[in-house]
Amino acid sequence: MPNIISGFSKLSKSEKIEWLLNSYFVDKDSARALVQRYWNSDEKLQKLHDEFIENTITNYYLPLGVAPNFLINDTFYTIPMAIEESSVVAAASKAAKFWLERGGFKAEVISTEKIGQVHFIFKGDFNKLKTFFKHVKPKLISDTASMTQSMERRGGGILDIELRNKSNDLPNYYQLHATFETLDAMGANFINTCLEQFATTFKNEALQYEDFNELEQNITIVMSILSNYVPQCLVRAEVSCKIEDLKSKDIPNPEEFAQKFEQAISIAEIEPYRAVTHNKGIMNGIDAVVLATGNDFRAVEAGVHAYAAKDGSYTSLTHCSIINGIFKFWIEIPLALGTVGGLTSLHPLVKFSLEMLQKPTAKDLMKIVAVAGLAQNFGAVKSLTTTGIQEGHMKMHLMNILNQFEATEDEKVKLVEHFKTNVVTHNSVVEAIKSIRN
Ligand code: MEV
Repeated sequence: MPNIISGFSKLSKSEKIEWLLNSYFVDKDSARALVQRYWNSDEKLQKLHDEFIENTITNYYLPLGVAPNFLINDTFYTIPMAIEESSVVAAASKAAKFWLERGGFKAEVISTEKIGQVHFIFKGDFNKLKTFFKHVKPKLISDTASMTQSMERRGGGILDIELRNKSNDLPNYYQLHATFETLDAMGANFINTCLEQFATTFKNEALQYEDFNELEQNITIVMSILSNYVPQCLVRAEVSCKIEDLKSKDIPNPEEFAQKFEQAISIAEIEPYRAVTHNKGIMNGIDAVVLATGNDFRAVEAGVHAYAAKDGSYTSLTHCSIINGIFKFWIEIPLALGTVGGLTSLHPLVKFSLEMLQKPTAKDLMKIVAVAGLAQNFGAVKSLTTTGIQEGHMKMHLMNILNQFEATEDEKVKLVEHFKTNVVTHNSVVEAIKSIRN
């Protein structure tokens, strides 16, 4: 019998859990105890989390780590990172320290425009549609006045609306392509509300437009939605120094390092198989900060990868040059982020993270997030082109293996010490646990 249920959302939290336990779990008592162990004892806090989404049964924890020593445009930051993968926070911290001693990171916001579209079907004369659009455009804007008022007061709002003819790609398909400035808000709700109003006004006005015949008057609105592709909401971050200044404990030969590093970036620029993994490493840093600051990492991921493929093949988001003895490494990415609205004022740890970042504006946060991505990529490519990734990664992974084997605190201390001078592999850790337990 399939476990189908209707009216699930109307059940209380404990009824939902009981239904789940009865439907899928053999050891119901352990499963119930687990779900309850992850509840917060502070009822108000738990209720807040319960209400973020629907059908909440418990909490799913991720660690919140911090990477200190980031110098960005002469301001010091400790960057919050919510992520489950070992090594990421350590690599970011290490890269931050490395560049702190070499002038820090420079970052600039290039543009902040966001996009939304009303997709519609029009069966008729495009020239008449163009004239109608010109006629109706002021009303499209004025009908959203109550929605845009407070955004406009702060300097944002609707920037423009264009009519786009897409009928060569799909019969009778056209768009209202609108651009927005949403300041410190990510702006999804603002944009979608404006778009739905554009659609209503557009459809209603078409019905009364005398130059349209009956078919033309009946515009079909297919959908109204913001785009997560934001190539005009762009930030750039970079580091640079003289090649000889790259010299450090890990980089005994800076000339050789710089060349190999540049080659690794060039490979990611031309080879999609490498570019995807390369960019995944960048997103390790970006997503962790995006999540810690209550932003939508799915939106960021979708937009960033589309940008990486904008010229027709998927390529690296970071670039490197060596000119006149200067090593330069930079990233340019689209990031639609908010520091007000959404989770930013609701989730206590998001508020905590934003305070740690000195209450950044959305533009500040764009710079911080881009820097986190660049730092992460620097750390990964530096390891890949020198020691290889496994040495550091397995050291960080050691704790996961020890926890898997339920090592005691005393065993952990001994084994961490042991593996300072021994190679970590899954087997070597298992052997070492066995040996100290004997
Ligand atoms: C692992 O999470 C990320 C890396 O694979 C990134 C890279 O290869 O550049 C190490």
